[in-house]
Amino acid sequence: MKKIIIALDGHAGCGKSTTAKAVAKALDYIFIDTGAMYRAVTYHFLSNEVDFSDPTEVDKALASISLKFVMNPESGIGEIHVNNVNVEPFIRNMDITSRVSDVASIKAVRVFNVAEQQKMGEEKGIVMDGRDIGTVVFPEAELKVFMTADVTVRAKRRLKEMEAKGVATNLEDVEADIRNRDHLDSTRKESPLKKADDAIVVDTSALTIEQQVESILKLAKKKI
Ligand code: C5P
Repeated sequence: MKKIIIALDGHAGCGKSTTAKAVAKALDYIFIDTGAMYRAVTYHFLSNEVDFSDPTEVDKALASISLKFVMNPESGIGEIHVNNVNVEPFIRNMDITSRVSDVASIKAVRVFNVAEQQKMGEEKGIVMDGRDIGTVVFPEAELKVFMTADVTVRAKRRLKEMEAKGVATNLEDVEADIRNRDHLDSTRKESPLKKADDAIVVDTSALTIEQQVESILKLAKKKI
């Protein structure tokens, strides 16, 4: 069977990662959560007190980072490591979430992550989720999907996910964060979040995760 690249872009909190993970599992593909890479860089910058407004400091910090996904044999999911330290447990809290879009708007950070992502996709057979996968990372991807959903539906889903992980927050803060990140991600100068011309829009407001996965698998099977 032909191996393809599936690019899954879209707004914050519409179930991209959960869907991408399940699609990858069904096709026996590799799943790459590029949001985790931007979160990991943000975590590294904040923990090392890197001044993001200083390009020299940013370049120096990036030169000292190695990012890697390491498979957790229990969950079967790749966890993001920075310089061989698993940072997955620290990157989903509100401190990181509220700063990640600022870090992701820095050109040098994007160049760094995009180069890593392109290496990861060399062999194809991947499902990559993010904001610029179909537009910048893999403009030649065989299947591009742009996922979106009503903002309140997204906030409720994200809250449930965070509660399940024991992250303290509330619906108002989660919805405000989602609106803010969508705004920053869509209006930034470097690789703004936008639908690729040839991407297929999937609105997940009224879909269950199973239905989202099914709809993308159906699209993928036409290309394989
Ligand atoms: O997907 P997730 O919500 O974890 O992404 C966190 C943030 O990382 C996004 O709000 C966005 O600012 C940034 N991001 C990006 N480009 C990507 C993936 C994520 O700018 N490809």
